[in-house]
Amino acid sequence: MTMTLPDSIRARFPLLENAVYTNSCSQGALSGEVRSAYEQYLTDWDEKGAPWELWVERANSARHRFARLLNATPDEIAVTTSVSAGVSSLMSGLRRPDGRNKIVISDFEFPTIGQIVHAQELVGAKVEHVPPTEEATVSLERMAEAIDDETGLVAITHVCFRNGSKTDVKEVIRLAHEAGALVLLDSFQAVGAIPIDVRELDVDFVAGGTLKYLLGSAGLAFLYCRADLLPEITPVQTGWFADEDIFKMDIFDYSPSATATKFESGTPPIPNIYAGIAGMDLMDEIGIAETEQHVSKLTDQLIEGLDRIGAKLVTPRDPAKRGPMIAVATTDDYGMVAALAEDRILTSPRDGNVRLSWHCYNSEEDVEAVVAGLERHSDLLAR
Ligand SMILES: Cc1ncc(COP(=O)(O)O)c(C=O)c1O
Repeated sequence: MTMTLPDSIRARFPLLENAVYTNSCSQGALSGEVRSAYEQYLTDWDEKGAPWELWVERANSARHRFARLLNATPDEIAVTTSVSAGVSSLMSGLRRPDGRNKIVISDFEFPTIGQIVHAQELVGAKVEHVPPTEEATVSLERMAEAIDDETGLVAITHVCFRNGSKTDVKEVIRLAHEAGALVLLDSFQAVGAIPIDVRELDVDFVAGGTLKYLLGSAGLAFLYCRADLLPEITPVQTGWFADEDIFKMDIFDYSPSATATKFESGTPPIPNIYAGIAGMDLMDEIGIAETEQHVSKLTDQLIEGLDRIGAKLVTPRDPAKRGPMIAVATTDDYGMVAALAEDRILTSPRDGNVRLSWHCYNSEEDVEAVVAGLERHSDLLAR
């Protein structure tokens, strides 16, 4: 008998034996496969000493895996240690020849995007924020108003880390391109939970990492850059792994790679690459489209439960406008997270809300346990 999600894979995640885990928006649960990958790294180190050829090859495998995940080519992928590192390098080289120096960003960005974008003000950029709508979505009308003929870049988040709102990415990209602007998409809260196809989206830059829905660990991320844009971007934030030939060990000039490795920096994060590849392999086996479908049923069930107990939903209700994370208003987010943790329900706080995020391994029983937990601590729910 073939089993469906989540029964087919729950046993791979030991944490689920003794906890209800709804915190994949912070960090995916540890699988046996990822633990073994870390052990393999230690074995290779122990047995081989310094197998750098193998390790550089592993970094290249990660590049290929990210490319496959996004329907990109390996030359369009930089393997980085964080979203911050990749985006910072990109921004350091993104000078529009037509002098468009305005950056439009949504108010749903992660701090690192906001801070990197504002850092560009030191080198002449202007930044305009686009506030959200009442129902916590990125407003297309306000985006359209903000994007003008001075705008070089529009930065949007795929799924907001604060409230779970999913952006109408395709429509923002269409608006930006019509006005001659490029788009940077932060997909960290989506990749692994929602299929992403850079060709279908026609997006210019995408950043994300492995530690959440890709089931890897911290310290491994990617930056996608559309191939035809590569020649016009020369980062000034760089490192020897960004060189056109790292084995030349050249100290007399700066000659970055023609590919997206130009956005890389120093020695690759080898242990995290072992783990990240194992996590991506696991998500390949489980299926991201299948996960999205499974999670959408769980989030519908959760919303019914929240309505039943009178909890206040912060995430948009429209299924098209939400992803794997649902945020619920509290009077004390840290207090609620701590109270639920006492019951072995693991969640995370943000902006006064408790974040409940769902993945391939979560079950209908998990949803009921969370609703019952919130009801038990209803004194901490905001009405
Ligand atoms: C949407 C989003 N962007 C970026 C980050 C952080 O990126 P990094 O620490 O890899 O720079 C996070 C991490 O939680 C995130 O949720």
